[in-house]
Order: sequence, then C-alpha cells, then structure tokens
Amino acid sequence: MQTVVITGGTDGIGRGIALHYLSEGARVVAIGSTRQKGEALIEEARKISAADRAHFLAVDLTSMSATRRLVEEIENTYASVDKLVLCAQRYKLFGKRSVTAEGFEHSFALSYLSRFVLSYGLRDALECTKRPVIMNVGTPGVRLGKIHWDDLQLERGYNGNKATLQSFRANDLLGVGFAETYDKGSVTYVGYNPGVVSTGMPNSLPFPMKVMTKAMFAVAATSVDKAIKPMVELLDSPPAELFAAYWKKKSVNTRGKAFDVADALRLKEITEQLVGM
Ligand SMILES: NC(=O)c1ccc[n+]([C@@H]2O[C@H](COP(=O)([O-])OP(=O)(O)OC[C@H]3O[C@@H](n4cnc5c(N)ncnc54)[C@H](OP(=O)(O)O)[C@@H]3O)[C@@H](O)[C@H]2O)c1
Repeated sequence: MQTVVITGGTDGIGRGIALHYLSEGARVVAIGSTRQKGEALIEEARKISAADRAHFLAVDLTSMSATRRLVEEIENTYASVDKLVLCAQRYKLFGKRSVTAEGFEHSFALSYLSRFVLSYGLRDALECTKRPVIMNVGTPGVRLGKIHWDDLQLERGYNGNKATLQSFRANDLLGVGFAETYDKGSVTYVGYNPGVVSTGMPNSLPFPMKVMTKAMFAVAATSVDKAIKPMVELLDSPPAELFAAYWKKKSVNTRGKAFDVADALRLKEITEQLVGM
C-alpha cells in the first residue's frame, strides 16, 4: 500500500488530494494544526470505508522543532513514503510582523522552512519507494517578490505581502537546490501552481479583503475537485527531470532568474544553518 503524506491535508487542495488517494486505496497521513479539521477528515474517510488508512497528525508547522519531530514520527511509523505533498499555508498579508518562538518570521517559517525540513528530512523514506515524488504547491511561474538576502526575517520594512511573496520565491529555489545537490537522484521534485482554487483560504484574511477575495473566487476560482486532477496525474506519473515546475498542466520554464542555481545553493546553505540541518 502506498503512503501519501500531505501537509495541509485537512483543508482545501490538500484535503482534496487526501480524499482522492484514500478513495484509491492508499494510506494518507494528513498534517494540520487544528484537531477538529483532522477529525472531520477521518469522518469523511469513514464514509468511503477508508478510516483505517486515514491518519491525522496535529502539528504546528511554524515550529521547526515540531517539524523535525514530525519527520522522525513519520519515519518511525511508516518506514517509507511514496508521495510528499506540501500544501500547508496561512497567508498573513496584513498586520504586524509576527515571530515564532524560535525567532523566525511567520511566513518564512510556515511556508518555506517547514517545507525545507520535510523535503530533506523525508528524502530517505521516499527513496525506498518505486516512483517517489515531492510536490511543493505554491506559485512557480509568478514573477513577483524576491529573496531579501540581507534581511530574510524581514526585520526592517516588514509587510505581509513582501513576506508571503518571499516565501513563494524561496520555494522555487528549494526545488532547484534539492535537485542540484542530489547525487542519488531518485526523488522527483515538482513545484506546482494550481491557479486560483476555491478553498477556505480567504477566511484567514481580514475584512474587507476577505469579502473581496471571496467574491473574486466565486467568479474566477476552479473547484478543488477540478484543480486536483492534473496534480494527481503528475503525482502518479512524475516527470523524468529531477526538478520541474508547472502552472496547472503547463510546464513552467525553469531557466529564469526565479530558478537561478547559484541563488538556490546560497539559500540552501543559509537555510541549513538556520534550521540546524
Ligand atoms: N487556493 C488558491 O487559490 C491557491 C493559489 C495558488 C497557490 N495555492 C497554494 O496551494 C496550497 C494550499 O492552499 P489552499 O488554498 O488549499 O489552503 P487552505 O484551504 O487555506 O488550507 C491550508 C491548510 O494548511 C494548514 N495549516 C495552516 N497553518 C498551519 C500550521 N501552522 N501548521 C500546520 N498546518 C497548517 C491548514 O490546517 P489548519 O487550519 O488546521 O492549520 C489547512 O489544512 C498553499 O501552499 C497555497 O499557497 C493556493
């Protein structure tokens, strides 16, 4: 039985992918910070007689020590992982800069550092399987935002939009660095942009942004069921390259500045020091 690990697997796109693989007979390990959402997923799984294969782990992925413990728990419990899907996200576009107990800026920690720790931490567990793949769900192909090399935690001139966009660009580089430094080369890394998808994402936005985004979603967003179709196709038949990026079904050119190899290696080295890997 294959094992699919999904961060943010209790809501939105991640939940859609979780229910898809449960219906296909896989074991799904869904990670989220809210216990009720995890219990609701197990309840949904029960309806398709898959509750025994649906596992929920409550972890706050803004904490790197909790993320490292999660890696250990997955390794010790499941031995191998076929697919790792990285969806956990909570946009903080407005309001004051917030810092985790470990001293990291919130978006940098949740949206980038936790994905770094899980991608490298679970690499051995992925290598044990037939066609292992990591899908980092974000926004490759969007040319907005940059890495603030001299102030990664945005201590000076913080704004939420800048922090969110920096985390997107850092994830583009995470895929490049992962593939570039990977001698064994059996795990495929896919950066994936699903376009606008109708999820509960706007609920975490403040008024009036929440109302505006919901109105925009009502007109322009794709349903979760439709959005996950090309995602599961890629997860089931990953591309031959070690790193590839997609905007829906369309391949994204990874030769541009957003995927610069020197930047990717520089960020990897800095990140390893930050998270102590
Ligand atoms: N929806 C779109 O239009 C869109 C567009 C482009 C890219 N994306 C990308 O697609 C991915 C999924 O987005 P979505 O719209 O499906 O999101 P969503 O519906 O808001 O779901 C987010 C998931 O992340 C989990 N999460 C949030 N904070 C967490 C934390 N501190 N620790 C652990 N889990 C946490 C949530 O669970 P809890 O609430 O229980 O923590 C939930 O399961 C994201 O990476 C996003 O950037 C989405």
